[in-house]
Amino acid sequence: GEAYTLKKTVVMVGMMGAGKTAVGRALAARLHVPFLDSDAEIESAANMTIPEIFARDGEPFFRKKETQVIGRLLDEAKGVLSTGGGAFLSETNRRMISEKGVSVWLKADLSTLWNRVRHRDTRPLLRTDDPRTTLRELYDARVPLYSEADLAVISDSDTAIETMVDRVIEALK
Ligand code: S3P
Repeated sequence: GEAYTLKKTVVMVGMMGAGKTAVGRALAARLHVPFLDSDAEIESAANMTIPEIFARDGEPFFRKKETQVIGRLLDEAKGVLSTGGGAFLSETNRRMISEKGVSVWLKADLSTLWNRVRHRDTRPLLRTDDPRTTLRELYDARVPLYSEADLAVISDSDTAIETMVDRVIEALK
């Protein structure tokens, strides 16, 4: 396929389990542009996993690193940037993202999200007595902020990744 020249980095936002990494990676491959992932960058810089960072240094420390990494990645390269589910909550992050990128909210309903995250143990925020309720509370609190993204694309459980990539590309036109 032809190589695209992006004017702005495409920034994937949305809840954990929405498919930001999977769709972001496939979108970058389709566009022949670099794929960037803020969570992966934070982990490799710290040489720790995200659960380890939360346990050792706490969420506020993680959020500080997240803002630094997103700022750096937005300056470094144009490509597709997948962010962690909490990244778009910070006003600073939203401002950086809207100045230097185009944000795409991967929008999935709660049951889809729950089915995708329930068997994974990689999300420190869901290590509660009742993770399903926790997920719903995060969802309710965050949807108003995600809806400030430039574009929204539906990510449902029975849609193929390449179909979601098509939807994002269509929305970007
Ligand atoms: C978080 C989501 C995670 C990761 C961290 C916090 C959140 O990323 O950044 O565990 O606040 O929703 P994913 O959205 O890729 O799971």
